[in-house]
Amino acid sequence: MKLTILGGGGFRVPLVYGALLGDHAEGRVTHVVLHDLDAGRLSAVTRVLAEQAAGVPDAPEVSATTDLDEALTGADFVFSAIRVGGLEGRANDEKVALDQGVLGQETVGAGGIAYGLRTVPVAEDIARRVARVAPDAWVINFTNPAGLVTEAMSRHLGDRVIGICDSPVGLGRRIARVLGANPGEAWIDYVGLNHLGWVRGLRINGRDELPRLLADPDLLGSFEEGKLFGTDWLQSLGAIPNEYLHYYYFNREAVRAYSEAEKTRGAFLRDQQAGFYEEMKRPDAAALTAWDRTRAEREATYMAEARETAGAGERDADDLSGGYEKVALALMRAIARDERTTLILNVRNRGTLSVLDAEAVIEVPCLVDANGAHPVAVDPLPDHASGLVCSVKAVEREVLAAAGSGSRATAVKAFALHPLVDSVNVARRLVDGYTAVHPGLAYLK
Ligand code: G6P
Ligand code: MN
Repeated sequence: MKLTILGGGGFRVPLVYGALLGDHAEGRVTHVVLHDLDAGRLSAVTRVLAEQAAGVPDAPEVSATTDLDEALTGADFVFSAIRVGGLEGRANDEKVALDQGVLGQETVGAGGIAYGLRTVPVAEDIARRVARVAPDAWVINFTNPAGLVTEAMSRHLGDRVIGICDSPVGLGRRIARVLGANPGEAWIDYVGLNHLGWVRGLRINGRDELPRLLADPDLLGSFEEGKLFGTDWLQSLGAIPNEYLHYYYFNREAVRAYSEAEKTRGAFLRDQQAGFYEEMKRPDAAALTAWDRTRAEREATYMAEARETAGAGERDADDLSGGYEKVALALMRAIARDERTTLILNVRNRGTLSVLDAEAVIEVPCLVDANGAHPVAVDPLPDHASGLVCSVKAVEREVLAAAGSGSRATAVKAFALHPLVDSVNVARRLVDGYTAVHPGLAYLK
């Protein structure tokens, strides 16, 4: 079984490889091909993987290349985890937005639109190449903004591209834990778009235990989302939102915290990772130790501004290992070995949410088997949530249209229609600002 990782020089690749190392069953991945545009990053990550593999007799073989067709040929699975414009691009997404007083987070608001506008054309190119060179491969998309990018790729690959994110699993795990249940045995009633979903129920042995949580302020205030959103607001909503909804429900505070931060998240990670890749140039560097130290620091500071705004304190130790590699591995096993399971994934809506068309990619529990990921039937969202989902999907559609046509006016429309951008004039200035700093947006005319 061959797995190709696009963005193979990326910082989180060792997480995926670590998960593969724990899989000894028949049908496991035996060959990993790393593809990246940057040979230096590839060799840094290859060194970390070699140290991880030491002493594991059946460790998957690793090779690296900067040639996309070579990487894709013969792939059974393709993971796409690229970052168009790098972390410098992410930092600029934040800065341009903050200069206009709006949020520049990499997946939410103006920052997510800018990141989407430069990522969609690249993702579509990759999808076309996969369709030509590896038509039977399954593509697992990690590339953010994951819902939008998955939808862009699905226009070429249909249901053979599946988007993943670890935040719904993390949320379900936290809720199950505070309820004293085994997360593996809980049915999580979650739906929405990527980074824009709500847990409306959590069934253990068939019984919905979420009302018990919502009725108990102590329990509700004891975990990440309770601290972020506050117990009163969760009780008003009657649901537990994905942590990224903090940027909507507490937008003013989030923008202020981002503006006052010494460094934005993107700028922090840009500098932190530059240090890591620089260190990897030293032949005597302990690659795995350096990587692990950098990873731990990254995880500990995740969403730090949001937590500070809410007075949520430090992250729980149990929340530190995200688990996105576990979702990826479970998905591959389910498809490759027909190990049937349920995972929350980004797939085409079909008829799941009646307020969206069949092609819209949504985030929803799916039954996964050798035939792919099939969304389950879910209850409709309440109007306030449907409204947000429809607005944001409309914005995503404008991003896809702008990427397809190269129309600057359509890009302005995408920004202007976003619920977190408060004026058409702001949208115009955002497009001016973003096109000035991002070479990847030169196609907008
Ligand atoms: C969560 C999100 C991902 C995001 C990751 C890292 O897991 O679901 O989409 O890539 O956090 O965030 P960071 O700010 O550390 O890059
Ligand atoms: Mn995510």
